[in-house]
Amino acid sequence: MTTHSPAPAQAARRAQLAQALAATGQPGVAIIPTALEVARNRDSTFPFRHDSYFFYLTGFAEPNAWLVIESSGRSTLFCQPKDLEREIWDGYRLGPDAAPGALGVDAAHSVETLDARMPDLLANQAVVWFPFATHAGLAARVEAWLQQVRNRARQGVLCPTAQRDVCALLDEMRLIKQDDEIATMRRAAAISAEAHVRAMQTSARLLRAGVDAREYHLEAELLHGFRQHGAQFPAYTSIVAAGANACVLHYRADTAALRAGELVLIDAGCELDGYASDITRTFPADGRFTGPQRDLYDLVLASQHAAVAATRAGARFNDPHDAVLRVLAQGLLDLGLLDRSKVGDAEAVVAERAYFRFYMHRTSHWLGMDVHDCGSYVEPGEASEATPERDPLTGQSVLRRPSRILRPGMMLTIEPGLYVRPADDVPEAFWNLGIRIEDDALVTANGCELITRGVPVEADAIEALMRD
Ligand code: GLY
Ligand code: MN
Ligand code: MN
Repeated sequence: MTTHSPAPAQAARRAQLAQALAATGQPGVAIIPTALEVARNRDSTFPFRHDSYFFYLTGFAEPNAWLVIESSGRSTLFCQPKDLEREIWDGYRLGPDAAPGALGVDAAHSVETLDARMPDLLANQAVVWFPFATHAGLAARVEAWLQQVRNRARQGVLCPTAQRDVCALLDEMRLIKQDDEIATMRRAAAISAEAHVRAMQTSARLLRAGVDAREYHLEAELLHGFRQHGAQFPAYTSIVAAGANACVLHYRADTAALRAGELVLIDAGCELDGYASDITRTFPADGRFTGPQRDLYDLVLASQHAAVAATRAGARFNDPHDAVLRVLAQGLLDLGLLDRSKVGDAEAVVAERAYFRFYMHRTSHWLGMDVHDCGSYVEPGEASEATPERDPLTGQSVLRRPSRILRPGMMLTIEPGLYVRPADDVPEAFWNLGIRIEDDALVTANGCELITRGVPVEADAIEALMRD
């Protein structure tokens, strides 16, 4: 990612947001800061990662910057001023003089003038919009600016009378990916898929060579694969889980040994130019599934196939999850992980959530700039249709609302799994197996397109890949 990117897509998004502000019927102004730089320890910061909303509207990746959009359509950027000495230490700054030309904003000023200029931008507006509950201290800062506007009341200046969450508008925009976003996500997915292939092949090679092979050796392959193709970061902390570690859902790559006869679960994806990818593959460390591993793997894969078939425009967000549950429930009975005489048939397994001890997460989440991307999971027009239901496991009453209707351009993961901990009532052959298969799906008019299949998913194809 360069310091800034060409601006047309971002300019169109700013115009779209301004229209949404205006459509409320009241003049308003939206204030969107980027992320803060965070200290790691003395003189050292965590790698800076811009705020996703800010980057969506600007393509600008420098820290210490703010965007202001008025319902009139006017946009103002506040950014770090040029400063030769700071640039010698910290690197190039775009600066306010160059920002309108580079980013297409109408005006740009030094961020050092933010407090002085913001009351002018808020004066005579009816609504101030900003991201709620995402930036510590932002609400207090807005209040201080409003106080200054109010101090001018006797001069006839009007002060905003309402504060609203700009995320409500931006989340809906971000949910439907535009062509430039889809193109970037395809590239991110391809890079991550290739890195997974590399990690699988490395695992087989290390075990064939009989050398000490650890989880972190595979993590190193992933990071190499991401960075070699220009991805800036992993999109989240990579999970490389050998053997029983795969049953820890939020495990990360550590020092455990890769052992022949055991599985390895890798959940890792790169972030490229601000967009995430999110892939999980589970494979035998030495490249050959054992019988029970293969049985469980094929069950998870069958459930993923069912979920993929259920993912299309017009379907509901919950449909792929429901499809997974039906397949897993039947398979858990057939493989003897659930006892039919105790839990009944597959329908009862789903209804009573008896599968939950083996499958305790959901099948999908939105994917985009954030790995767990923004966007409501409830269909907006049906949010008031809440039905109380009793959760069979906890006995608590939960409100169920109609889930989101899928539309072309939405991007979601499809990631069923099974995690089997040792237990007296579970066949020992399955103990400590943890399997997840995760792909990234672009919703299309007639179905979905899996953009992560540069890494194979069928057990035979994985074995072939690890033989070569
Ligand atoms: N890697 C995070 C997730 O799969 O949700
Ligand atoms: Mn995921
Ligand atoms: Mn994942």
